Amino acid sequence: MSERRIIRRIRGIDTADGAGVKLKRIIGQPGLDMLDPFLLLDEFRSDSADDYIAGFPEHPHRGFETVTYMLAGHMQHGDNHGNRGDLVAGSVQWMTAGRGILHSEMPQQEDGLMWGFQLWVNLPASDKMTAPRYQDIGPERIPVVHPAEGVTVKVIAGELAGATGPVAGIVTAPVYLDIAVEPGAQIEVPLPEGHHAFAYVFDGADAQVAGDRLARSELAVLSPGASVRIGGDEAPARVLLVAGRPLNEQVTRYGPFVMNTPEQIHEAIADFRAGKF
Ligand code: CO
Repeated sequence: MSERRIIRRIRGIDTADGAGVKLKRIIGQPGLDMLDPFLLLDEFRSDSADDYIAGFPEHPHRGFETVTYMLAGHMQHGDNHGNRGDLVAGSVQWMTAGRGILHSEMPQQEDGLMWGFQLWVNLPASDKMTAPRYQDIGPERIPVVHPAEGVTVKVIAGELAGATGPVAGIVTAPVYLDIAVEPGAQIEVPLPEGHHAFAYVFDGADAQVAGDRLARSELAVLSPGASVRIGGDEAPARVLLVAGRPLNEQVTRYGPFVMNTPEQIHEAIADFRAGKF
């Protein structure tokens, strides 16, 4: 069993998206353009309403999947096909945009903490024009396991310690784990060997990742390997551990459209303008 190591460290950059929601862009910025199949990772965290109240009004997506994991707060999702969903603390929405949707994500609170992640996962050429699909998963459906003393893991996608995450049928076979570690506690998490993987420390203090210290708000890109060790350092910490099968295809992206070729981007823009989403 080969253990994964840290091969790169990245910190997010402060930016804004939607109608002015302040966020940290960790993947999808000059320091880390993408980590195939992951196109973007944003963390939004603020207890100041001015930073999030404008939300993400109606906008299109085509050619990939958006994954929202809410840690605190409440947003409502809606799209032009009549789908509605509540994104509450602890819930996950795995949305396969496929050939296209127009949707919005709007805050349902006027104050208090709003905190969560949005991850973009690419689709292979064969699936880019698939029908849109939603997996709206409430907190009660996410298994919580204790694979070792002082370690608590929410299994959102993939398998760990006999639990299987509720997200199913995703072409990149993702692993998505929220790992809480106490000081000195440690687990070895098995991962599919060729998957691209990253770890991001999002709460508490520094953590131990692959035998190294990883600071709060730092993302580690991991080498290939069959497992990675995650543990606590001097204080409790939480680590997002995500892995997916790389697609190894050409990527042409233009804002909310991610396709293989420039021609397909032009087609996406034309379809959007013609109201075909
Ligand atoms: Co969106």
